[in-house]
Amino acid sequence: MHVLVTGGAGFIGSHSVEKLLEANIPVRILDNFTSGTRDNLPNNSQLEIQEGDIRDEVAVHSAMKDITHVLHLAAQVSVQASVENPPESCSTNIGGFVNVLQASRANDVQRMVYASSAAVYGRPVQLPLSEKAMAQPCSPYGLEKYVNDQYAILFAKEFGVSLFGLRYFNVYGPRQDPQSPYAGVISKFISMIEQRQPLAVFGDGSQTRDFIFVKDIAKANVQALQSDMGGVCNVATGKIHSLLQLIDILSRCANQSVEVVHQTVREGDIPFSETEITRLQALMPTNDFTDLSSGLTALLQYTSQTVKK
Ligand SMILES: NC(=O)c1ccc[n+]([C@@H]2O[C@H](COP(=O)([O-])OP(=O)(O)OC[C@H]3O[C@@H](n4cnc5c(N)ncnc54)[C@H](O)[C@@H]3O)[C@@H](O)[C@H]2O)c1
Repeated sequence: MHVLVTGGAGFIGSHSVEKLLEANIPVRILDNFTSGTRDNLPNNSQLEIQEGDIRDEVAVHSAMKDITHVLHLAAQVSVQASVENPPESCSTNIGGFVNVLQASRANDVQRMVYASSAAVYGRPVQLPLSEKAMAQPCSPYGLEKYVNDQYAILFAKEFGVSLFGLRYFNVYGPRQDPQSPYAGVISKFISMIEQRQPLAVFGDGSQTRDFIFVKDIAKANVQALQSDMGGVCNVATGKIHSLLQLIDILSRCANQSVEVVHQTVREGDIPFSETEITRLQALMPTNDFTDLSSGLTALLQYTSQTVKK
C-alpha cells in the first residue's frame, strides 16, 4: 500500500497518518495548511508532504502518482462558515471532493475512503440513527457531505471505483483546536476548565451525544482502507452520554470541581443523538473503543503538556 491522505496535517488526518506509519505503510499527504499544521506531523522517512489545494486539479493529479489507496479528509470543516459563505464551502467540499474522486478514478487507485459526517442526518426523526435514516441536513456543510455520499455511490456503481464513506460522530482528542468554530464541546469544556472558568451549558444539560476518541477514528480509517465494504458507515461508539454526565466524568478526570452555568437553549441545537453501529462492528469486530474516561484523561494530559510548552 502507498496511501495519499488529503488533509493529513489536520486533527483526524495527523492521527491517521501516525496509525498508517505505525503499520509501516508509506504515506503522502496533500494539505493546504489552512487549519492543519506541520507541527501535527511526525518526522518519518516514510512520510512525504505535498503542499497543495484539493481544488487544484494539477496538484491533486500529481499527488496521486504511485498511490494505491486514498484517504480523503481535506475539507472546509466549519458548519458556521458553510452557513456564512456557501459558495466558498461548496468549492472545497464538493468541487475539491469531485477532483479527488476523479483523480482516483483516472489513476486506477485501488480504493478511496472519505470523511462523511453525522451532519448528513440533520435533526434526527428517529433514534438510534442507522445509515438507512433519511438524510435531512440542516446546513450547507451537511448537504455537501451528503452530496459526497451520492457522488461516491454513483462512481462506485457506474465507474467501478472502490469507495467507502465514514460518517464520523462527535470526535474528540489531542490536537483539536478549541478555538475552532467546529471544535466539539469537549475541547471547549477542557479549555474552560484550564482557565478555571464555569462551564456554559445550553439548556438543562440532558442532551445526549456519542463521543468517539480520535485514535479510534484513525483505526477505523486504516481498517476501512484495508476492507472492501462499500456505501456509508456510521463511526461512533454506540454509547451515549448526556452533557451533565460528561461534565461529571471530566471533573473526576481533572480532579477538579467545576461550576456549571445554564444558558438558554440555542435555536437549532439537536437535543438527543444516538447511533446504530452494526456496520461499524462488521468493520471492527473487536469493538474495543476507548472509554470516555480514558480518552478524557489522555486529552487532559496532552492539554496540560501543551500549555506548559
Ligand atoms: N472532527 C470531527 O468531529 C468531524 C466530524 C465529522 C466529520 N469530520 C470530517 O473529517 C475530516 C477531517 O476533519 P478534522 O476535524 O480533522 O478537521 P481539520 O480542520 O483539523 O482538518 C482538515 C484538514 O484539511 C486541510 N484542508 C482544508 N481545506 C483544504 C483544501 N482546499 N485543500 C487541501 N487541504 C485542505 C486543512 O489544512 C486541515 O489539515 C473533514 O472532512 C471533516 O469534515 C470531522
